[in-house]
Parts: sequence; structure tokens; C-alpha cells
Amino acid sequence: MLIDGHGRKVDYLRVSVTERCNFRCQYCMPEKPFSWVPKENLLSYEELFKFVKVAIDEGIRKVRITGGEPLLREGLDNFIRMISEYKDDIDLALTTNAYLLPRAAQKLADAGLKRINVSLDSLKPEVAHKIAQKDVLKTVLEGIQAADDAGLKIKINCVPMQGINDSELCDLIEYCKERAYPIRFIEFMENEHAHSGAKGYNSIQIQNILKAKYNFEKLERTDSSPSQNYKMDDGYVFGIIEPHKDDFCATCNRIRLTASGVLIPCLYFEDSQSIKDAIQRNDIDEAAAILKDVLANKPEKNKWADEEGSEVSARAFYETGG
Ligand code: 5AD
Ligand code: SF4
Repeated sequence: MLIDGHGRKVDYLRVSVTERCNFRCQYCMPEKPFSWVPKENLLSYEELFKFVKVAIDEGIRKVRITGGEPLLREGLDNFIRMISEYKDDIDLALTTNAYLLPRAAQKLADAGLKRINVSLDSLKPEVAHKIAQKDVLKTVLEGIQAADDAGLKIKINCVPMQGINDSELCDLIEYCKERAYPIRFIEFMENEHAHSGAKGYNSIQIQNILKAKYNFEKLERTDSSPSQNYKMDDGYVFGIIEPHKDDFCATCNRIRLTASGVLIPCLYFEDSQSIKDAIQRNDIDEAAAILKDVLANKPEKNKWADEEGSEVSARAFYETGG
């Protein structure tokens, strides 16, 4: 079992397979062009898998594949198959923007994937275009349908942004409710890479928007999911992810690996250690030792909850997939 320096059990690994993305979401990506990490600096799927095995052997029980947009990297289904065949009861999930799902969904399901989280911030083509900087909505909705048809369980993520998609939160709930998809609204996490004018909402503001149409009550937290759930009168449950709340980090059970082999203990901070050399030398003991050292030094909490001091993270979300 993996326990961090603050006594939290860590059993959830997020693996980013690429920082590249076919969208430029305002809350995630810079306005100006920038260059990607050269492909030769990335760990191969075989190398990433070597570390995933170390992590599973040490006590990781849930693995989520993220990006950037993970479906941009060829061979993802084989990577998923490696993990699901190594330990078939691992909770294996993928976060995607769904754009490439129309042709990938069935292959992913066949490889052993069970669940996906999809970013869906708007149901209006022009608003989705404005957020992602590309005309994406039709293909995204087709991708979600393809995933559903392939038997994948679907959760929807939405980042409410001021003046952009804030009038659509109830419509997004209706879309999800009709299809029995859980939706989670995520408070915008301020970071230096996002578009400069990007402004989000906190949980109270999101609840106030939803109260215009719905009655709902707060549910007790039962697991280490970052989502605070709310139950509506008709039984539908939605969530809000509240990283600006003081106690948000108390149940953090996760650690992140980037595509270039950097282990990141907290989404807010830039502290990290590389496992690349150890993995490329096939030094499994050293990789396990680095994992434990990173966990021993995992920060207690992020700074988005701070009343004073910096509330803008320098981390790039496209490296670690939110
Ligand atoms: N704030 C909140 N959520 C973010 N995501 C990406 N950037 C941010 C941010 N700045 C989330 C989006 C997306 C997932 C990949 O990461 O919800 O669905
Ligand atoms: Fe791409 Fe996801 Fe970032 Fe949007 S949030 S730009 S889909 S990595």
C-alpha cells in the first residue's frame, strides 16, 4: 500500500500519454503558438507500462489515461490492453475530448477499457467552437454516441466559464440526465497557460445558476472522489469539483505521470521527479524508490484555496490532463 507524507492512501495513477491536443480549450491552452516536447523525449508505451506495473505492484488500483488528447497518440488501444491484461480488476479509465472517438471507441472497448470521461462544455456549435478554438461539437457528440454504443461507461466534465457557457449549465444537465450520464462541473483552476481573459465560477456560483431550475441537496462524501455530489428531486446526481475549497486536498489519493516520465505529486505545484532514467535502465527498484520519495513529499494542499498569496498555478494542464 502507498501512503503519502500526510497519511493519505494513494491508489490512483493518472498517466498522460501525450501533451499534444487537437483542441485549444481556453481554460487549458495558451492563445499564442508554442512548441511541443519533441516526440523522441517521450517514453514509449512499453516504458510507460513498465512504470505502471511498478505502481500497480506497489498498490495502485485505479489508472486513468489522460493527455493532452490521449487518442492522438497511435497505439493507445495496445497500451490499454497491456494494462488490462496485467491486472484485469484494475479500474482503468480514459479522459478524452471525444473528437476521435467515432472511429476509436470500439477498439478501446475491445482492448479492455471500461470507462471514459468526456469534456463537454457546450451544446451550441458556435460556443463549443469558441471554447475549443475549432468547430468540434458535431463530431464530439458522435464520439460520445459511439462510446455509448461500444458499451463504455460515460461521465461528462464541464468547466463553466463566465460569459461563455454559463447559460447552458441546465441544458447540459438535461442532456446528461436523458442519457443517464453523470455530469461534473469543474471550478476553473487558474493557471498561467490558460487564455488571459478566462474566468470561471466557484461552486456556490455554479449552484446558484442551477437553483434557478432545480432543487437539490448536498450528499455526504463516501469515497475519495474529488467530486462533491448533489441529488436533485428526481434522483439525478450531479457533481461539482471544488479545488478552491479548503478541504479539497484532504482526500487526495492520486499521483500523475507525464508522457516524458515525470512524476508529479500535485496538480498545483511544479515539484516533480523523473523516473525516465530508472525505467530505461530497467531499474525497477529505483523506480519504486522514486515513486515512494515523490509520495513522501506530496504537498498537503494546493494554493487555489488560499485567501492570500498566489492562486495561479504555473503548471500546464495539457501536460497532465487536469
Ligand atoms: N480548470 C479546470 N478544469 C480544467 N481542465 C483542463 N484545464 C482546466 C482548468 N484550467 C479539465 C477539463 C477537461 C479535463 C481534461 O481537464 O474539464 O475536461
Ligand atoms: Fe485539449 Fe483537454 Fe486541454 Fe481542451 S482541456 S485543450 S481538450 S487537453
